[in-house]
Amino acid sequence: MGDGGVEAPNTILRGFLVEVPLFKTMVLKIADEYRLHVESNTEESRNLVVVREYCEERDKASVEKMERQCDVGQKGKPSIFTDLLGDPICRVRHFPSHVMLVAEYGKAREIVGVIRGCIKHVTTGHSHHVLKLAYILGLRVSTTHRRLGVGTKLVQHLEEWCKQKGADYAYIATDCANQPSISLFTEKFSYTKFRSPTVLVQPVHAHYKPIGSGIAIVRIPQHVAVKIYRYLFANAEFFAEDIDAILFNKLNLGTFMALPKKLLPKWDPETGILPQSFAVLSVWNTKEVFKLQVKGMSKLTYACCMGSRLLDSWLPWLRVPSFPDVFSQFGVYFLYGLTMRGTNGQRLMKSLCTFVHNMAKDDVGCGAVVTEVGQQDPVRVAIPHWRRLSWNEDLWCIKKLTDLEGDNYEGSKTRDWIKSPPSSAGIFVDPRDI
Ligand SMILES: CC(C)(COP(=O)(O)OP(=O)(O)OC[C@H]1O[C@@H](n2cnc3c(N)ncnc32)[C@H](O)[C@@H]1OP(=O)(O)O)[C@@H](O)C(=O)NCCC(=O)NCCS
Repeated sequence: MGDGGVEAPNTILRGFLVEVPLFKTMVLKIADEYRLHVESNTEESRNLVVVREYCEERDKASVEKMERQCDVGQKGKPSIFTDLLGDPICRVRHFPSHVMLVAEYGKAREIVGVIRGCIKHVTTGHSHHVLKLAYILGLRVSTTHRRLGVGTKLVQHLEEWCKQKGADYAYIATDCANQPSISLFTEKFSYTKFRSPTVLVQPVHAHYKPIGSGIAIVRIPQHVAVKIYRYLFANAEFFAEDIDAILFNKLNLGTFMALPKKLLPKWDPETGILPQSFAVLSVWNTKEVFKLQVKGMSKLTYACCMGSRLLDSWLPWLRVPSFPDVFSQFGVYFLYGLTMRGTNGQRLMKSLCTFVHNMAKDDVGCGAVVTEVGQQDPVRVAIPHWRRLSWNEDLWCIKKLTDLEGDNYEGSKTRDWIKSPPSSAGIFVDPRDI
């Protein structure tokens, strides 16, 4: 999902019009004034920046403070505050090969920026080809030190690390409206705009939602899910080769399949043979990794949201589409591996998403069910979501880090992934990237 930072309007709550709270205006003003006293993006200012690896003991408090300060948000928009639950490295910890770098500025060696990166093996969707791919995420520069070359230095060092690890490509995900981030990567570092999947958000209501009749929902054992996903995503892009590590991870709450009840007696998951009609997905619990909180809503919006929730819990039969309590910290379930087949596919997928919604309702503090799918993926129309909370384009930009021409790859398409069209409508979104 787009790592747009909180400055991007592409937050879960994109679309809400609110007043700018006074404190925000003040912070932005102070930031602007401060900026006047520090040099602009010159050779001299860049020399004041030192990038090194994050050291938990020494840096945790400063990084948390800096990232909190980054969450000031965009003028006139509500902001999402991310609480990394006291573990700044949590977003990359689940990858066997990962790093977090910090940037120090000036003589005081104040931490003014961070960046994370990890390496994985993914399919390109062409001829079963697998590449070593670096994912760059969690880039943040303190609002008081922007346009001083801090972001540039962090990306340079991270790319170096990726190359040392033998990554063929590096990619980032950002909000399609996050111009600073897009310019930084496409203009300064020659990344290419590559894919733009859609993020769909469904709030968790105060009532259960009914699951379609005649539909059975079964939990798929992890070892069977590994086989199913390897088969279903054989031609998809970004499919993680270590799917077993994802499915066996403690954050994975399970893989579920919806199928017509009448097919259930004849179907044995252990055979690995799929039913004629089905929908499948897995659920990732991001609640254990980070919590979100919305600030900067107008009092009126706040009152409407809380009112709808109260009404829904008191009079559930009214089926008011209640809004979750996003003003206190809340967690998110992320759905991945969504696939459907057969004539009833859409109905089955809808029921499966409803089933996960009800699961999330039972999990105190879970405020939304979120997923990300390819723009042209047929599952998209079957996933219940709120349009105002979802966004159409999460921009993925990519860059080739090594010269693959000389390597012994089969087929020209694998050498030129950046120029090749998507191999299929589906795209695998790794839940660890969220
Ligand atoms: C994006 C971000 C990391 C840039 O950090 P930075 O230290 O200000 O970047 P730099 O000073 O190294 O700028 C490098 C280039 O980025 C682009 N850039 C940076 N800020 C920009 C802005 N406000 N508008 C347009 N381009 C911008 C420019 O091309 C710039 O080169 P230039 O100064 O020679 O014109 C910073 O704005 C930030 O932390 N934003 C919030 C979090 C975020 O969006 N992270 C990115 C997630 S992928």
